[in-house]
Amino acid sequence: MEKIIDESIQGQSLNLEAKKNNARKLFIESYGCQMNFSDSEIVASILSNEGFNTTQNLEDADLVLVNTCSIRDKAEQTVRKRLEKYNAVKKINPKMKVGVLGCMAERLKSKFLEEEKIVDLVVGPDAYKDLPNLLSEVEDGRDAINVILSKEETYGDISPVRLNTNGVTAFVSITRGCDNMCTFCVVPFTRGRERSRDPQSIIEEVNDLWNKGYKEVTLLGQNVDSYLWYGGGLKKDFDKASDLQKATAVNFAKLLDMCAQAQPKMRFRFSTSNPQDMTLDVIETMAKHRNICNYIHLPVQSGSNRILKAMNRQHTREEYFKLIDDIRAIIPDIALSQDMIAGFPTETEEDHQDTLSLMEYVKYDFGFMFAYSERPGTLAERKLDDDIPEPVKKRRLQEIIDLQRKHGHYRTQQHLGKVEEVLIEKESKRSNTHWSGRNTQNTVVVFPKENYNVGDFVNVKITDCTTATLIGEAVGLSENN
Ligand code: SAH
Ligand code: F3S
Repeated sequence: MEKIIDESIQGQSLNLEAKKNNARKLFIESYGCQMNFSDSEIVASILSNEGFNTTQNLEDADLVLVNTCSIRDKAEQTVRKRLEKYNAVKKINPKMKVGVLGCMAERLKSKFLEEEKIVDLVVGPDAYKDLPNLLSEVEDGRDAINVILSKEETYGDISPVRLNTNGVTAFVSITRGCDNMCTFCVVPFTRGRERSRDPQSIIEEVNDLWNKGYKEVTLLGQNVDSYLWYGGGLKKDFDKASDLQKATAVNFAKLLDMCAQAQPKMRFRFSTSNPQDMTLDVIETMAKHRNICNYIHLPVQSGSNRILKAMNRQHTREEYFKLIDDIRAIIPDIALSQDMIAGFPTETEEDHQDTLSLMEYVKYDFGFMFAYSERPGTLAERKLDDDIPEPVKKRRLQEIIDLQRKHGHYRTQQHLGKVEEVLIEKESKRSNTHWSGRNTQNTVVVFPKENYNVGDFVNVKITDCTTATLIGEAVGLSENN
């Protein structure tokens, strides 16, 4: 008995020593949406208090964490492949522990521990604060799991450790979860109900980023326009809030306004907007502040009213056009991007043509396009047959991609001859004598370095372009510096 106590005390002091020296090494990688990348920065912060420093080298790691995505089957297969790789490394370094975070952890829960013997730890998106406890379980030789979804957790009190950062652009999460229940989508099941983060903690994070030299922040949420702070709690419980809470509530337009005013020289972007929740006060707030970028990611998924309904998207094609017209009336040089799904159950050629004609109307600057992938547990999986043959899905997807490429090129060309403000982010991948940055519309701009530096706002004369990249020459620092 005494010996066991001794050993555990010794173990404890070793752990404390490791904590003090930041001696343990964490290898963390992320798949999927920007929110996952942002969450990994929260996880790195929680674990830095436990003595973990991050490493880029898998072979050196004491702990390997993979932040996973369930949005399509292919995303899950990618993660399974990575687990095989970790398994090979673990054979050389048997002390290495492996944890699965994120949406796959939430979706598969303890099944992961049965299916993938290599996994020691399974942690869902709302349970990261429990990581220190779970790790001590794992260190004692037990598998550990926490996949409890929360009504409150926003990690608002955690200051993220920025990973793989360029020191110029950063993500700040503002909401978690989603209440929209699009019938194809697994997110409401893996990330739980929608809740918003205290605006004060958002502003503090923004100010802190500015003080550390960051120049651009992207506010993140599954559905940012639905942001609503009334003192905490779920969005769906807002009706039960007191009169005072209702009167002092902060919506997304107000939050944007607060951010833009708190740091007038910082650029702000946001993602993702759902058309059904986007209101014109957001567009008006964008128009009011030059530091809110003229770019909206506004996924539509399909151009067919019948399919939109089957997807439980709460707007029609006509309402979407009206929204686009209203946005363009207020901000004429707005850039817009889409997400599209090809081959949703029952989609006919006519429905597909509706998607193409909707694209023709909007002529999006950018797009993210996918073949429908049936996700277990979603309403579409339970109620509808995945009845569009793979080759048909692929062909429709290709037609959507080809049209998007054409529109993207058309939009890119509209910038030729203009002088545009570009925030320098990094060296161009193609040339070490050129900088790469983005204009307000989110288009990548490449130009000769001259004496400019990463983090400078530079006015660039656009002289040439490829399909998706602008090429130019600096004409001077912008007044924003
Ligand atoms: N609001 C979210 C959307 C998450 S999913 C956000 O912040 O981006 C991102 C995109 O993946 C969706 O817009 C949709 O186009 C695509 N997607 C989601 N579920 C899918 C499925 N089952 N099959 C194919 N694509 C899907
Ligand atoms: Fe998914 Fe629809 Fe929400 S796509 S994340 S359920 S807005």
